[in-house]
Amino acid sequence: MAEVEELMKTSVLMRNPQRVRETIASLRTGGVDKLQVISDFDMTLSRFGFHGRRCPTSHNILDSSKVVSEVCQQQLKDLFHFYYPIEIDPNRTVDEKLPLMVDWWTKAHGLLCQQKIQRGQLAQIVRDSDVMLREGFEAFFNTLHLSHVPLFIFSAGVGDIVEEITRQAGVLHPNVQVVSNFMDFNEDGVLWRFKDPLIHTYNKNSSVLEGSSAQLQARPNVILLGDSMGDLTMADSVPGLSILLKIGFLNDKVEEQRERYLDAYDIVLEKDETLDVVIGILQHILPGDRPAPRGPAGEAAPLSEGPL
Ligand code: C5P
Ligand code: MG
Repeated sequence: MAEVEELMKTSVLMRNPQRVRETIASLRTGGVDKLQVISDFDMTLSRFGFHGRRCPTSHNILDSSKVVSEVCQQQLKDLFHFYYPIEIDPNRTVDEKLPLMVDWWTKAHGLLCQQKIQRGQLAQIVRDSDVMLREGFEAFFNTLHLSHVPLFIFSAGVGDIVEEITRQAGVLHPNVQVVSNFMDFNEDGVLWRFKDPLIHTYNKNSSVLEGSSAQLQARPNVILLGDSMGDLTMADSVPGLSILLKIGFLNDKVEEQRERYLDAYDIVLEKDETLDVVIGILQHILPGDRPAPRGPAGEAAPLSEGPL
């Protein structure tokens, strides 16, 4: 088969390149109607860093926003500095991490709910933030939209913020479904709790989809995008799952985590802030007679993206 040129990038690592090529060939043969993309959001569709600085997660956007008091900001930062190293610690098992992740999310959501955050403030909070989607995001979202390929965003972040980021970027198309931690506002439009079930890094599986109105599509061929070991179970409950191509962004603690990521993901993208490889694979799989990806208002997609 013709090569996906982007797989030659220096950021691309594969334990078994031949198997990856065969999987991509099978996805292409399977055709567009059988394909869906299941993706994490924070640090997968959004950037991990820019010019040497960390970019915020959807939680961090709230944590550092001016609608949150300075005392509360500090408490949320302290939680992050305590729990994030645990989240990515390769020497702890998932079973050890699980209760600690529940603690982190529960404490952080509890603090946020004391801040009287209003629904109407969310758009400005996102506009004021440093969040950035990965380079190439327009081509990624628009290609899937034009090809009618469902994009299921499975996020342990804050769903309202994830939707607002993608909306402001002009890519919250009808083929996109977000499953995440959504805020619950009281009749005055003030945040008072988060809706169940709580989604954290290590329960992104069928357990949180059962009983939910959001369901994975019965399309058997899946491209899975993630940046954490917890993202690997996102496609577990796809009915009739047949082909699974797992692409993992290795953003942090690269030396310590490289081997585990290579064991777990078919393609590992090391310190790669772009969606080039994903777009290259999609363009290879999808029929070639699509119009070029375009922006939401019909304008041609810009060649490069800056901060939102
Ligand atoms: O799975 P996903 O990438 O959507 O998970 C959300 C990320 O948000 C986690 O990887 C975690 O590091 C981060 N987080 C955060 N603040 C919290 C809880 C989680 O930044 N209070
Ligand atoms: Mg993530």
